[in-house]
Amino acid sequence: MTVHSNPSHATTQDSELTANSDAPWDEFDPTAYFAHNYLHLRADDTEILRLTRDHFVRAELPGGLHGVDVGTGSNLYPALAILPWCRKITMVERATHNVAWLERELAHGYSTDWDQFWSVLAQRDCYRDVADPRAQLSAAAHVQQGSVFDLPRQEWDIGTMFFVACSISNVIDEFEQAVDSFLQALRPGAPFAMAYMENSKGYEVSSQEFPAVEVGVQDVRRCVEAAASDVQIHRIPSDSLRVGYTGMLVALGRARPTHT
Ligand SMILES: C[S@@+](CC[C@H](N)C(=O)[O-])C[C@H]1O[C@@H](n2cnc3c(N)ncnc32)[C@H](O)[C@@H]1O
Repeated sequence: MTVHSNPSHATTQDSELTANSDAPWDEFDPTAYFAHNYLHLRADDTEILRLTRDHFVRAELPGGLHGVDVGTGSNLYPALAILPWCRKITMVERATHNVAWLERELAHGYSTDWDQFWSVLAQRDCYRDVADPRAQLSAAAHVQQGSVFDLPRQEWDIGTMFFVACSISNVIDEFEQAVDSFLQALRPGAPFAMAYMENSKGYEVSSQEFPAVEVGVQDVRRCVEAAASDVQIHRIPSDSLRVGYTGMLVALGRARPTHT
């Protein structure tokens, strides 16, 4: 999910808290992030795609849904994973350059680099039945500059949030709030997929440092089960992206409202 390792962050993280509002989101370089993370499809993302794809196929959803992908960055594959069922997809993204990058991809039809991701999804009929995913994503998706912490409640029918809750702050409370806010933004019963870096110590994009919170399976399970049902947590072996993390995690389930 990140560009270059940042081992020094491991020590600063213990003593310095970087809240989401303190990190330099408008210095986030979407082109560099894309080039490092998604130019070539890796085995870890392939496995995440398969798990997410099969979860949504199993949900036996109707069409015409309004979906959401939160913290989209320069990654289109979560939105592609919900495309077959969505009339509309809202991409909520905080960083100005990421918003502009997404608007460009959608305006011109996404680049052929995403075809390798679509190929994995299109191994299942629901996806194969989408005649023109490039045109359908451009028609369905719109980008909204905003924050995971300010989402409306019970707004969306299906949702994804990949490598966001763990990678926007090094404050554990903000990790928990981000997971909860995302789940509360889904209608009761809405299927979702979330991905996380496991035990991430922070990351750099184009030499700019960004914070992360070190979470593992138990942290994810505790937060997700508080507001979801049918929860499955998968651990994906991964060590080739950079140093400073121990794997990837995927949480699948259906939203369940809490009454707080
Ligand atoms: C590690 S990147 C993940 C990007 C992408 N989802 C992926 O799968 O690679 C974290 C993303 O969260 C965005 N972000 C940071 N703070 C946010 C907030 N408060 N609300 C929504 N997105 C935020 C960043 O701009 C960045 O695009």
